[in-house]
Amino acid sequence: MSIEIQYRPGTPGDLSAVNAVEEACFQPPLRFSKGLLRRMLRDDLSLVALSSKEIAGFVIASLETENSQRFGYIATLEVLSAYRRHGVARHLLMTAEDLLRNEGCRYVALHVAMNNVAAMALYASCGYESVGTVEKFYPNGTDAALMVHLL
Ligand SMILES: CC(C)(COP(=O)(O)OP(=O)(O)OC[C@H]1O[C@@H](n2cnc3c(N)ncnc32)[C@H](O)[C@@H]1OP(=O)(O)O)[C@@H](O)C(=O)NCCC(=O)NCCS
Repeated sequence: MSIEIQYRPGTPGDLSAVNAVEEACFQPPLRFSKGLLRRMLRDDLSLVALSSKEIAGFVIASLETENSQRFGYIATLEVLSAYRRHGVARHLLMTAEDLLRNEGCRYVALHVAMNNVAAMALYASCGYESVGTVEKFYPNGTDAALMVHLL
């Protein structure tokens, strides 16, 4: 099955739809609150993937600085289950990386739960390398891998 997906920057008006994807993808305590999503859609870099009917997925990234060097941080990347394994997450991630590169970022970092097989495989396939582990990074006690991709 091929799917038609359009991509555009996220806006504050996407909050309800983005929150619906968040609720479909994560259970508490891992789920971002609607208030946090509202702030991120307002302040951070975001992209949404649109099918004809709904928002199929989204990515949110922030611009960070360390030792005078700019880098991007992927806060979250989510795709509704009905649209998975069609390259939607890969497209969102690569487009976000293009935007971050244009903002002067030299690399992109992210945390991913060590038991998230799909996400770990996705990031590895996009060139991310694990540079460390953060024990009990998530509120449910799960460890995270810190992954980095040089742009
Ligand atoms: C992880 C997630 C974003 C992947 O979205 P997706 O649109 O299905 O990913 P893509 O189709 O772009 O996959 C690209 C590559 O990632 C890898 N991959 C993705 N899902 C995978 C899975 N379930 N098992 C193994 N590899 C997988 C594959 O290498 C895949 O390429 P291929 O399909 O050609 O084999 C999606 O499963 C999701 O939203 N999960 C819940 C939210 C989440 O955990 N987000 C990550 C937060 S860090």
